Amino acid sequence: MPAAVQDPLEIVRLAGILKAGGLVAFPTETVYGLGADATNSAAVLSIYETKGRPRFNPLIVHCADLAMAETLVAFTPLARRLAARFWPGPLTLVLPRKPGSPLSDLVTAGLDTVGVRVPAHPLTQALIRAAGMPLAGPSANPSGRLSPTAAAQVRSYFGGRVPVLDGGPCTAGVESTILAIRDDAAIQLRAGALPRDEIEAEIGRPVAVAAAGAAVAAPGMLASHYAPAAALRLDAAAPRPGEAFLGFGPMPAAIAGVSRNLSPSGDLREAARNLFSMLHELDGEAAAIAVAPIPQTGLGEAINDRLRRAAAPRDQLSRTL
Ligand code: TXA
Ligand code: MG
Repeated sequence: MPAAVQDPLEIVRLAGILKAGGLVAFPTETVYGLGADATNSAAVLSIYETKGRPRFNPLIVHCADLAMAETLVAFTPLARRLAARFWPGPLTLVLPRKPGSPLSDLVTAGLDTVGVRVPAHPLTQALIRAAGMPLAGPSANPSGRLSPTAAAQVRSYFGGRVPVLDGGPCTAGVESTILAIRDDAAIQLRAGALPRDEIEAEIGRPVAVAAAGAAVAAPGMLASHYAPAAALRLDAAAPRPGEAFLGFGPMPAAIAGVSRNLSPSGDLREAARNLFSMLHELDGEAAAIAVAPIPQTGLGEAINDRLRRAAAPRDQLSRTL
């Protein structure tokens, strides 16, 4: 396991780059992040430049632990309960920014709230502790491309421009679930690696889902966002001539062309873990990809959300974001 064999001097070296305002790509249980000192506006600006994101969209702030997050945002009892149950883990909480918080305004894109989370990767926790600051970090992909779930994908996107802390393949494989907390209410802004039913089981009541385009929705949720170059056709029973096939569960009898299976046994966790890397692979091998139906239960909510975005028509605007 890379966490055990990693040279501790490498963490110190990368923390030094962050302290000097540089970028470091870091592993999490969801996807790799493109990290910078969240308190340094010049450093945060270089995240936007490196991703090629021409407009400012608030960034998630990664903390080593709850104590660090408490210095940045105001926790309500509900937020504290969710953090106690699910952190470290794939849950981002959107909470009011504390007055006097040292965060750069570029991180919040001018909002009075901040998305914070404690990622469940020991190397990244060690990196944040060694750097001594919270890390602003979107997914480590150029804007509009698939989120990377392995260090090699990050390197293929940014070459030698961004050092990568290699923590092995991501275990969850889709981004964190984002919840906005308003007093005693939780609203899901983005389906993600923590299934909504697990949150509902913890708090004992249903969690509202923000409607697409609603004012409270996460501003980064563009219709076309997770975009492979290949065209995607969803809910396909079988591939048509010329299409690659991305299966789930038992495969259709005769598949002539390229194919992958997200999970032969129909396990949603395995499917989430494989989603971006298999899309990435098929994208390089075919101009069109047919995708088998995925159940909408549990983690299926996040998987289907990402697939719908990957399949959405790409207009001029969303191509450039
Ligand atoms: O798993 C993840 O969440 C990954 C890893 C690296 O932590 N990060 C990630 O970041 O997916 P990014 O930038 O690709 O997506 C962040 C989303 C955007 O849709 C953004 O609009 C939303 O979070 N967001 C951040 N702060 C927010 C806030 N204060 N209010 C509402 N939405 C916010
Ligand atoms: Mg992203």
